[in-house]
Amino acid sequence: MAKYTLNINQETRELDADPKMPLLWVIRDILGLTGTKFGCGMAQCGCCTVHLDGEAIRSCITPISQVKGKKVTTIEGLSPEGNHPLQVAWVEEDVPQCGYCQAGQVMNAAALLQKNPHPTDQEIITAMEGNLCRCGTYNRIRKAIKNAAEKGGTPS
Ligand code: FES
Ligand code: FES
Repeated sequence: MAKYTLNINQETRELDADPKMPLLWVIRDILGLTGTKFGCGMAQCGCCTVHLDGEAIRSCITPISQVKGKKVTTIEGLSPEGNHPLQVAWVEEDVPQCGYCQAGQVMNAAALLQKNPHPTDQEIITAMEGNLCRCGTYNRIRKAIKNAAEKGGTPS
């Protein structure tokens, strides 16, 4: 076990964890932030996507030891009021079905818009193709990203 000071969602949190523990376990089981989901545990589905210094990463394969000194943002911290332009667009386009993959989808889309505020359809498809949705909500996800981009939606 080792002691870590984590900067997560603009807060500083102290915790003890095995250095090899995946960030996803820390987020969910130690910090109790359960918006981020476990899907495959092998970097294959995107359910566990969070931001590390603004980059979308797979928290299921990122050990806590690699997070030291970096800023972590989860779906709970994307927008304090839950009104990030993507979250608003997600509601407007009625995107989720079961909802399980959606936090990861939104976090990946937010990282995309941060880098590229007006992506083309192909750029959206390419950026989002690693985030799987068993319910097949892909068309609504793309529509919602376009919707947020048209309204000038970059992360707060
Ligand atoms: S749970 Fe991390 S990519 Fe599937
Ligand atoms: S909404 Fe069900 S897995 Fe994507």
